[in-house]
Amino acid sequence: MNVAVVGGSGYAGGELLRLLLRHPDVTVAQVTSESMAGKPVSRAHPNLRRATTLTFVPRAQLRPADVTFLAVPHGEAMGAMPELLATGGTVIDLSADHRLRDPQEYPRYYRHEHPHPELLGEAVYGMPELHRDALRGARLIAVPGCIATATILALHPMARSGPAATARAVVDAKSGSSAGGHDAGPAGQHAERSGVMRAYAPSGHRHTAEIEQETGVRTALSCHAVEAVRGVLATVHLVGIDPPEERELWKLYRAAYGAEPFVRIVHDPDGLYREPEPKILSGTNFCDVGFASDPEHGRAVLLGALDNLGKGAAGAAVQCLNVRCGLPETRGLEFLGLHPI
Ligand SMILES: NC(=O)c1ccc[n+]([C@@H]2O[C@H](COP(=O)([O-])OP(=O)(O)OC[C@H]3O[C@@H](n4cnc5c(N)ncnc54)[C@H](OP(=O)(O)O)[C@@H]3O)[C@@H](O)[C@H]2O)c1
Repeated sequence: MNVAVVGGSGYAGGELLRLLLRHPDVTVAQVTSESMAGKPVSRAHPNLRRATTLTFVPRAQLRPADVTFLAVPHGEAMGAMPELLATGGTVIDLSADHRLRDPQEYPRYYRHEHPHPELLGEAVYGMPELHRDALRGARLIAVPGCIATATILALHPMARSGPAATARAVVDAKSGSSAGGHDAGPAGQHAERSGVMRAYAPSGHRHTAEIEQETGVRTALSCHAVEAVRGVLATVHLVGIDPPEERELWKLYRAAYGAEPFVRIVHDPDGLYREPEPKILSGTNFCDVGFASDPEHGRAVLLGALDNLGKGAAGAAVQCLNVRCGLPETRGLEFLGLHPI
């Protein structure tokens, strides 16, 4: 199938191209960028040298494709969506513009109204672990946020099983610098970012909205920037419950994820990597989840780790493409990561 990538000069677009150019069922027909129009794709993404001879085109030259991926900043996809959908193809939006079902959440979290609230009911939240059947017929897929994905997948088995119904989640999330995109501004400059441990959103982070929407659990989210290029680790403190014993947690998580190709349960008694850790997930589409029971303090500690550009963005987008098109779900996503790295 022919695909196009809009916003292909950015970090999420580059990771998407890395995956799509090696996907056996995909031909990348067009990649857009305003700032790099006319330049080779490999100028923005040097890892793609000799993988493609494509050059960037301006968005005005975008042609209809079987699948169009949008990897542009939030606020940029929503206005163009009716026109894109009218071409008849499927649209996979990596931005936040179609993740939330309630239009009121856009002014609250993103500070602008949604111009096409009618599309929010149609868009399918692109998390196959929760919405696989709906994705099969979807015309518009909204790929989840990276911190939201790590948190939701960590919480989901508890949220759906009942113990979390009256609970509250307090989430401490850490992310690497690529999560902010290649135009992160002064906060992303080396002198400011290097060695950092920064609480950049102690409260009010936008992903709170999608976490609550998808889990139904009241969630307080605090986000930190740490010294890494890729990676998200979400530590979810589920409080206000009588936490299940670990044997019970194993059962819950195995029931939810035993058959999932990209969610691995990691909670080992020994070894160096006993709990989920993003470092070894770089370049992969895995989300590793783990847990610990803490009855003394009335909490369960749930962990989710991933590569923000992998399962947190481009990998998830390709997984959604596979589900949508009836392809094996792991196609083009088989990379196991590197160790040591
Ligand atoms: N980075 C992550 O880990 C991550 C994870 C999950 C989701 N996402 C989402 O993916 C999207 C892209 O993120 P990113 O990290 O790749 O950002 P980025 O590195 O800043 O890239 C953004 C891309 O959009 C284009 N662009 C910028 N302003 C635009 C505008 N006003 N209209 C149209 N295109 C514009 C840019 O290229 P030109 O200006 O050259 O056209 C660039 O190609 C965002 O919505 C982000 O929230 C990112």
